[in-house]
Amino acid sequence: MKVDVLLGLQWGDEGKGKVVDVLTPRYDVVARFQGGPNAGHTLEFDGKKYVLRSIPSGVFQNEKTNLIGNGVVLDPVLFMEEAEALCNGGIDLKRTLKLSKKTHLILPTHRLLDAANERAKGDAKIGTTGKGIGPTYTDKIARNGVRLGDIYDNFPEKYGMARQRHLDRLAQLGATPDADDLKNLEEKWMKAVEYLKEYEIVDGEFLVNDALAAGQSVLCEGAQGTMLDVDFGSYPFVTSSNTVTAGACTGLGIAPNKIGDVFGIFKAYCTRVGSGPFPTELFDETGKRIRDLGHEYGAVTGRERRCGWIDLVALRYAIMINGVTKLIMMKSDVLDDFPVIKACTAYRVNGELTDRFPFSIDSDKVEPVYVELPGWQTPMSGMTSEKEFPKEFNDYIAFLEKELATPIAIVSVGPDRTQTIER
Ligand code: GDP
Ligand code: IMO
Ligand code: MG
Repeated sequence: MKVDVLLGLQWGDEGKGKVVDVLTPRYDVVARFQGGPNAGHTLEFDGKKYVLRSIPSGVFQNEKTNLIGNGVVLDPVLFMEEAEALCNGGIDLKRTLKLSKKTHLILPTHRLLDAANERAKGDAKIGTTGKGIGPTYTDKIARNGVRLGDIYDNFPEKYGMARQRHLDRLAQLGATPDADDLKNLEEKWMKAVEYLKEYEIVDGEFLVNDALAAGQSVLCEGAQGTMLDVDFGSYPFVTSSNTVTAGACTGLGIAPNKIGDVFGIFKAYCTRVGSGPFPTELFDETGKRIRDLGHEYGAVTGRERRCGWIDLVALRYAIMINGVTKLIMMKSDVLDDFPVIKACTAYRVNGELTDRFPFSIDSDKVEPVYVELPGWQTPMSGMTSEKEFPKEFNDYIAFLEKELATPIAIVSVGPDRTQTIER
């Protein structure tokens, strides 16, 4: 049995949560492999909407095992909030959700450091989600992290050492927290750590590999997107983890030769939230229209998402890095009204045309080159089969498949589970 991976090819918020939920019935295990509560994965079914942050999007389908892998960073307080809401809604999470011992914990002081680091950067700030993601991964790589398995092993000492290091750093940044505020944060955090003990904390790498040996199948759920990958994204305006397929190997303990299909998910246009370059960004009425029609506001932070046309240079690069075998196109319905749709097929870099993603995509170095395609101007959100697709939409799909040399296996025409068309 193989492991399939579903991940974002753009700057996040492609619709990963929705499609993981749709695909889950075909798998036995669903696992998150990186990121943390910086993610906001939205699902809709039966007239209800859910936003998941640390918990895999397979939890709504009965009898499936869900795993938070070692590559994830976990905030106990946010986890408890999220988990309790699901449990109160009747989801039997304590039975189906497992957490890896090697998952790193986000401490209250990690969040304070995230804010202080951003302040120190001034205008060059990354526009992080403020969830302590960068400082937690920094500690992991610097070999100073506190892991979930540590809560059973000399925890007060491990916690205390990390806390002191963080307070020293915060003092250097002129951001020493108020003692009472910190005490409150820590009390809440410790309570949430106790709550974590109500869950099965496992050797995630064995859970996954034992499942495979027993003939079961695994779906890995990415967070963020390839353009936010710490190695291949628009560095330094990225997140602090490997969001690409390789991240599923290190973030779960899966050997590369076990990877089967890689589902690369993208919007029919493109969005980004936070700072950093975005070659196809629209600053005009069209950008605003895409934002309004697509409800492009952060699932968690409510921040306005920056909107632009689809970027095929970036997508080709993402397909290459991830080894994408099947594409999934989301939010096609958002473009239903547009008479003309643009797609960036190349960049002009220093006056020369290139279809290769360059080292820097800063706006003073890169100019997007567009082709124009006729819009379909037909409402698509009620469609249930590709037989109903208008000609112009089929032409758009054929154009993308040719440009990207990869088949589009699924088209999404609305936020609900049912608004998903397989081809
Ligand atoms: P994720 O982080 O990749 O899981 O994506 P988000 O949940 O942050 O953002 C995707 C948003 O688009 C959510 O509000 C979804 O409910 C919504 N959505 C997903 N697919 C579609 C679609 O095909 N059409 C429309 N109109 N909305 C969609
Ligand atoms: P999902 O999984 C969109 C962005 C932030 C910021 C940068 C670094 O819902 O697609 P961080 O807090 O990770 O240090 O912030 O990454 N970012 C996301 N943008 N979707 C996400 O997750 C994101 N997670 C982080 O806005 O620019
Ligand atoms: Mg999101």
